Amino acid sequence: METTTTTTTSTSTKRCLVFAVNGQRFELFNVDPSTTLLQFMRSQTPFKSVKLSCGEGGCGACIVLLSKYDSVHDKVEDFSVNSCLTLLCSVNGCSITTAEGVGNSKDGFHPIQERFSGFHASQCGFCTPGMCVSLFAALVNADKTNRQEPCPGFSKLTVSEAEKSIAGNLCRCTGYRPIVDACKSFATDVDMEDLGFNSFWRKGESDEVKLGRLPPYNRKNATCVFPEFLKKETTMGANLDSEGYHWYSPVSLEQLQSLLQINEANDGTSMKIIVGNTGMGYYKELVRYDKYIDLRYIPELSIIRKDPTGIEIGAAVTISKAIEALKEENEVEFSQEAKLVFKKIADHMEKIASGFIRNSASVGGNLIMAQRKHFPSDIATILLSVDAILDIMTGQKREKLTLEEFLGRPPLESKSVLLSIKIPCWESSRDVSCDNYTKLLYETYRAAPRPLGNALPYLNATFSAQVSLCKNSTGLMLKNCRLVFGAYGTKHSIRAREVEKFLSGKLLSIGVLYEAIKLLETLVIPEDGTSSPAYRSSLAVGFLFEFLSPLIDSPVEISDGLLNGYNSTLLFKNSNQELDQFGQTKFPPLLSSSKQVIQLNNEYHPVGEPITKTGAILQASGEAIYVDDIPSPKNCLHGAFIYSTEPLARVKGIKFKPGLSPDGVIAVISFKDIPGVNLGSKTVLGTEPLYADELTEGAGQRIAFVVADTQKNADIAANLAVVVYDKENLEPPILSVEEAVERCSFFKVPPSLYPKQVGDLSKGMAEADHRILSAEIKLGSQYYFYMETQTALAVPDEDNCMVVYSSIQCPEFAHDTIARCLGVPGHNIRVITRRLGGGFGGKGVKAMAVATACAVAAYKLQRPVRIYVNRKTDMIMSGGRHPMKITYSVGFKANGKITALKLDILIDSGMFVDVSPIMPMHMLGALKKYDWGALSFDIKLCKTNLPSRAAMRAPGDVQASFIAEAVIEHVASALSMEVDSVRNINLHTHNSLDLFFASAAGEPLEYTLPSIWDKLANSSSFYHRTEMIKEFNRCHKWKKRGISRVPIVHEVAMRATPGKVSILRDGSIVVEVGGIEMGQGLWTKVKQMIAYALSLVKCGGTEDLLEKVRVIEADSLSMIQGGFTAGSTTSESSCEAVRLCCNILIERLVPLKERLLEQMGSVEWETLILQAYLNSINLSASTLYVPNSSTMRYLNYAAAVSEVEVNLITGETTNLRTDIIYDCD
Ligand SMILES: Cc1cc2nc3c(=O)[nH]c(=O)nc-3n(C[C@H](O)[C@H](O)[C@H](O)COP(=O)(O)OP(=O)(O)OC[C@H]3O[C@@H](n4cnc5c(N)ncnc54)[C@H](O)[C@@H]3O)c2cc1C
Ligand code: FES
Ligand code: FES
Repeated sequence: METTTTTTTSTSTKRCLVFAVNGQRFELFNVDPSTTLLQFMRSQTPFKSVKLSCGEGGCGACIVLLSKYDSVHDKVEDFSVNSCLTLLCSVNGCSITTAEGVGNSKDGFHPIQERFSGFHASQCGFCTPGMCVSLFAALVNADKTNRQEPCPGFSKLTVSEAEKSIAGNLCRCTGYRPIVDACKSFATDVDMEDLGFNSFWRKGESDEVKLGRLPPYNRKNATCVFPEFLKKETTMGANLDSEGYHWYSPVSLEQLQSLLQINEANDGTSMKIIVGNTGMGYYKELVRYDKYIDLRYIPELSIIRKDPTGIEIGAAVTISKAIEALKEENEVEFSQEAKLVFKKIADHMEKIASGFIRNSASVGGNLIMAQRKHFPSDIATILLSVDAILDIMTGQKREKLTLEEFLGRPPLESKSVLLSIKIPCWESSRDVSCDNYTKLLYETYRAAPRPLGNALPYLNATFSAQVSLCKNSTGLMLKNCRLVFGAYGTKHSIRAREVEKFLSGKLLSIGVLYEAIKLLETLVIPEDGTSSPAYRSSLAVGFLFEFLSPLIDSPVEISDGLLNGYNSTLLFKNSNQELDQFGQTKFPPLLSSSKQVIQLNNEYHPVGEPITKTGAILQASGEAIYVDDIPSPKNCLHGAFIYSTEPLARVKGIKFKPGLSPDGVIAVISFKDIPGVNLGSKTVLGTEPLYADELTEGAGQRIAFVVADTQKNADIAANLAVVVYDKENLEPPILSVEEAVERCSFFKVPPSLYPKQVGDLSKGMAEADHRILSAEIKLGSQYYFYMETQTALAVPDEDNCMVVYSSIQCPEFAHDTIARCLGVPGHNIRVITRRLGGGFGGKGVKAMAVATACAVAAYKLQRPVRIYVNRKTDMIMSGGRHPMKITYSVGFKANGKITALKLDILIDSGMFVDVSPIMPMHMLGALKKYDWGALSFDIKLCKTNLPSRAAMRAPGDVQASFIAEAVIEHVASALSMEVDSVRNINLHTHNSLDLFFASAAGEPLEYTLPSIWDKLANSSSFYHRTEMIKEFNRCHKWKKRGISRVPIVHEVAMRATPGKVSILRDGSIVVEVGGIEMGQGLWTKVKQMIAYALSLVKCGGTEDLLEKVRVIEADSLSMIQGGFTAGSTTSESSCEAVRLCCNILIERLVPLKERLLEQMGSVEWETLILQAYLNSINLSASTLYVPNSSTMRYLNYAAAVSEVEVNLITGETTNLRTDIIYDCD
């Protein structure tokens, strides 16, 4: 792609692609039309704040603000879009603002970035630039409105808008409370008391003081400026040189027809019609199209026309614009019913995807996907209920179809274009035979993994009904109804006509509803292969029940034309309140308030103080550099993995799909190209090959590495690769733990890692009054979902050396693996890691292979090679959490005291051992939180032909805690006792703790769990709320609440960790630690420790040492023995390592300081250091902190109370409140 960036207006711009990024002009020639805005920005511009995470519009890491100038009205429209799906050619004439454009270190940070940083709203920071841009877009748009002028320092944004502004942005580290606080701090209606913990103000300060301490926001200076040079030329898409770009933007239906016609008569070149291109987020087509036709400039496709018969929406109108139109007060006066229906449709559309997808996704595109590809559309379901009419053009032919006819047809031909959709007014579909006392009920439903957007529905539904009072009885007559269901694993949305027919004309009663439901059950049946089919069918029933049952349960009356008894007046209220038709609040605020209480101790200032996270502001401005942000060195190549799709097979060869020769491929590297040992990872627990040799042992195993000129070409090539397998005479693969047991396929656990049994099981069982025998639990796997996928860059250096930048939790081990794989001495290799965009255990062992694959390819090709693993491959190869099967027998007394627990645990470790041998120890650590009397267990690591599992976020602890609580709940239910009483009676005494944990149990005073337990009961009003919940459950038939108090005991095991502290001539301090910064704040804690430890030299200027410390990237040659960053102990041990270094430095500096003091009366830090340099004092100290055996293991305690509500009809659960007390020691 040829690019020029200039700041002047060029005369040649008329026909080329011109746009601005952060005010900088870009002018492009010969663009591959399938290039996305994200691909362009990340590879051709310095603006790396746009991150690639999901690549499918689902996470918000790539959000930019897109501004369009309307020269007719001299107006700028600003909205957020995802850059991972937006095609570059479609931004012609637009201005793009990224996080760097919002604010940066050179021109000054924006208060958004400062507040994200100060509210502790950024941990690994990979999501943060996208979050900041989303909030920026919301501020820009709110401040454009003619709402009342806010108080100084605030914007016109409301709290609710602030919360929603980041609704589509995913964060995997931080938790949304601080993020939302940062957003809400701009809202005009915010209650300052509601804003949580931050580094701006101290507890108890007045609102005025708090406001004064916030980084100031001046909305007048905060608008987004559209570049004048773009305004002048406003190069609309139509002006783009279509031939050069293979991008066509017809401006009339005639032009479109002739383009389609030419294409049809053509030589078979492929063509794609697009609007927002968001469909690619779902279908991820890998085929390249020769041409694109952008429909957005054809007036007929962009209209929004309202008349008394309804609203016509052009097919290219975005969902956001459609929502606006449906909600807006009209010049056309619609009836109350019509308004209600339009509003309900708009409300439902607001749950589609996220704001930034809705800003570019078109209504027509959605319906076409539903029609052609059976996409589980919400729009099809809601519009089917109102008999929407579609205008279709095929060649010269135009036809109007009802949505039902449209959906029922065979897939639309590629030359057919949807022009517009007419949503008729309710009156047009009203049953005219109904009298005036007939009322309309209209409701839409949707059940999805998340309540608001970014999750496709399990099922959606729309119901309308005309009801009237029955003349001869007190009940309600259902005159007619329309029941639409979709997205449940069906080809397209359907009307349940049989049920409609059955219900029409019926007096509503429980019997009628029951019959209707029985009938419905025979109609809503997901197709084979749909996940959770029974749940989906039950949702259909549940929703119909929810719609109709209130009409049966209560006495009814229609007076003044309104249906009483159901708060039906609300149907006609033009209110902004989110209420369902029965008056219940449908959308409570996304997040309620929270409070954090932290006890501080000044003794070790600034250790332990909640200061702003090091680097958080750079993360917010997108200037923090992650591995894939490092500019590509000259001649850099890109790799992609070819992995096995067979669980057990011989690999005979690899070829590309016939007729599809991928572009840009340089090499396909397999085990045959490895110069040293075929090693993908190596730890003390075992090894894993880099590539399968003759045999692949599991689906997802690496087989080869395609190297190409770009990441896109490498990914396409890997997808086109066909592996030839041979399974002849091979045993069947082992695909379950049961099969592994049958075939004795296990990994060994070293005896030193196998925990000890506690007590005498037979005695414990004999003492029991009751026994539960051989109960079973099965636990599944889980994916890490770090926002930054696995990534590495290998750069060959002189003399067979290699520098590898890797996003890894353990550079030391990658270093060793690479050296062995390349067959070179360790000193030839250098692995560098600055920060991770999330790790969660997944960037331990699995990241070694990624780094090693790049190193092998770079070594062979003698060119730099990098990879940014695409999300799908990452999910398939990374393994994730260990699934397991648990069988337990438990003995207990009549009072709930457990006397013995026996566990048989089969852990599915997959094909390679990875770090699975740590699992037994980790599991037992968490499981022993209760006094089980006697505890006996048999844990087997099953070797199967499934993906090799790795450590993941509290590996083993999570599963074991679940098992412990499941056993407790089982015992409670067997005895019909309160679960909390069973938990209480089985909490450890210090004696039993000692028995279960030996030396890790510590002194009696250190066992704080019982006091935490009681304190939490008080602070959370646990007993009082338990009573209130009983009352709630008594009064509510379909919603139930539960509350539960759960303890945690976590056994910490410290590891040896290195540190190095050097003081530079100007008094600044540079630090290296073994640990890796991945969002946990390791650098911040290390800096605090150094500021404290060096302040002990006691000279002037040491109060602000914190500002003088910089922790630098981990470099496996500079800092050896770095080990693993894992197990929640690396910050602690890294801090201890640097403290020891500081002690050494202090020892060297103190005599000099004393001498200088005598001579000068006082000594400043800078003077002391300068004198140390002149006196040749060694100002660099390094150490390896090795924990001693008495302190290396200790216990952490915490407890939590959660109150949860479950909707029995839909299964929806809401966590109403959680209280946690954590003893940080
Ligand atoms: C992360 C994410 C979440 C989503 N969640 C939901 C959801 O919860 N519910 C839901 O209903 N939808 C959801 N969607 C789907 C979304 O609504 C559609 O992707 C979008 O509406 C398609 O519009 P588009 O303009 O981007 O279409 P494009 O991607 O540009 O086109 C889609 C297809 O339609 C064709 N096409 C487009 N317009 C026309 C036309 N006028 N005539 C003929 N062919 C045409 C194109 O050739 C292409 O094949 C989600 C999408 C994403 C990416
Ligand atoms: S939304 Fe674009 S990367 Fe996730
Ligand atoms: S800080 Fe949000 S993903 Fe890490």
